[in-house]
Amino acid sequence: MPQIASLPGTTDRRLAALLTLLSENATIVISGARIAREIGVSRSTVWRWVEQLRRLGVHVKGQRSTGYFLEKVPDILTPDLVRKRLKGSLFGKRVLHFFKTDSTNRVAMELGFAGEPEGTVVMAEEQTAGRGRAGRTWHSEKGTGLYVSMLLRPRLAPAQAPLLTMLAGISAQAAVEAVTGLKPELKWPNDLLVKGKKLGGILTEMHAEPSAVRFVVVGLGINTNQEKFPAELAAVATSLRRECGRITFRLELLVRLLAQFESDYSRFLSEGAGFVVERFRKVSDFAEGRRVRVDTGRESYVGTTAGLSAEGLLLVKRENGQETTVIAGDVSEVR
Ligand code: BTN
Repeated sequence: MPQIASLPGTTDRRLAALLTLLSENATIVISGARIAREIGVSRSTVWRWVEQLRRLGVHVKGQRSTGYFLEKVPDILTPDLVRKRLKGSLFGKRVLHFFKTDSTNRVAMELGFAGEPEGTVVMAEEQTAGRGRAGRTWHSEKGTGLYVSMLLRPRLAPAQAPLLTMLAGISAQAAVEAVTGLKPELKWPNDLLVKGKKLGGILTEMHAEPSAVRFVVVGLGINTNQEKFPAELAAVATSLRRECGRITFRLELLVRLLAQFESDYSRFLSEGAGFVVERFRKVSDFAEGRRVRVDTGRESYVGTTAGLSAEGLLLVKRENGQETTVIAGDVSEVR
């Protein structure tokens, strides 16, 4: 098993403990001596780390002589708080946090190869090479979005892995609705949309033998507190902040998402594909009766969505009446 603490770039456990201590006592001045005692480092280390947190954009007030405090709880996904909130659950055991990494999916895949257990969670404040579907990149601005990957080791055939993408979509839709009241549309297979604009996406990657999955990484990106997007995304992307007009606390969203996914995942494993397909049909208006363009790379055609197959593949009735099963490709609505 790898030494998590030595994984390059992971937030130092004690730095995270400092952040948690300050967050849990927000607005109260805590002396450097008490912080040093509670997290087990020297007072000068406390001072160095406070400086580091400031450089990372956390508003730590106060000084060496008086002690330190946070004016308000920062919206940082401290691993301790996530672990605490998910204590006893599948995703409450191993939580890795990065202030900056290339891709949480890339890290989680590496951990999968290194033998890390099912339930390991990797999250980041910022990704420099966030991966999207079909080789695209995922815009991952610092501190505003949710960028998280879950490592799973399900006993599934490789052909069933895409059901995990759909399952994550179902869980994400429910979590967003529970936390914000906004119900995004779920578009097969992996998009969360609001009024046709992308709110979130899921990228599932796996390592498998021909007949069995060794491990799967399910990565989710949810645009949460972005006020605006780069010009090339402005017309196609949105965030919870833009839609709801207020900040969403990412920790709440993450905790809800992981708890929801754990319960949906265990039903999938015990009840089989039918659970996912039925649930998806119920919560996705997109799967039935929408005019779409399907682009497979080899061909492009227009048709109407006609439900899901028993395996979770999208059925599209082409304009010539022929029904096609979409195995891969881009599906976009034609309005
Ligand atoms: C899509 O193209 O719709 C899928 C986007 C998935 C983005 C998330 S962000 C967290 C995780 N790490 C990555 O590199 N990608 C996924």
